[in-house]
Amino acid sequence: MKIEILPAAADVARRGAAAFEARVLAHPALVVALPTGRTPVDMYRMLAARKKEGGFDLSRATAFNLDEVLLPRRMPQTFFQFMTRHAWEPLGIPPDRRFIPDGEASEPEAECVRYEDAIVRAGGLDLAILGIGADGHIAYNLPGQAGPRTHVVNLDPGTIATLGGGLEGPLRAITMGIETIRSAKSILLLATGVSKAEALRRMRDEPAGEAWPCTLFRGHPDLTVIADRPAASQL
Ligand code: PGA
Repeated sequence: MKIEILPAAADVARRGAAAFEARVLAHPALVVALPTGRTPVDMYRMLAARKKEGGFDLSRATAFNLDEVLLPRRMPQTFFQFMTRHAWEPLGIPPDRRFIPDGEASEPEAECVRYEDAIVRAGGLDLAILGIGADGHIAYNLPGQAGPRTHVVNLDPGTIATLGGGLEGPLRAITMGIETIRSAKSILLLATGVSKAEALRRMRDEPAGEAWPCTLFRGHPDLTVIADRPAASQL
């Protein structure tokens, strides 16, 4: 895996935005997996500014969200709401090419199968943009709950707390699996802040294992980690 270390979080956002823009220029109809979380927010904001200038155009692209919580989609904690506000609307992704697992599905397992099929029907992922959890989770492949394909996971109290709004468990989510994400031709992983330092070190150095799902991505033919200095401080 390739690791680019930049001074600060804003540089990571800028580099991520530039890399994404370059891929879209080369392949306007690309199929991309997109993340939620704090890390990509600045990247989305920079890309929205580029779009306003006419420099970034996702009107032919297709976006698949990495994951979604099983909550009514009107709730502010859903990734449906996050993506509408931070990515789909500001980046101009056409409504019929915004894909996210249905957090209201009455049969979540069947929804997982449907979601995998939708990715295949779209032609497969060209690019996956990822964040990483301090515990090494990627999308919602949480420690001990990684799976190969799109699957249902139980969120732990710490993860539920990151969603805000005083949510209480139990709460489940649907996430792309490790192989779903690894099937992307190209992967960009953004990491900022010292809380990610241990996960990045283990991702690079430790034998692959489910306790640190990030380690399951090693060996991908085109994986680039873009980290700020604090996140790279254990490398
Ligand atoms: P964060 O989340 O960007 O909010 O740190 C990362 C993740 O959970 O993938």
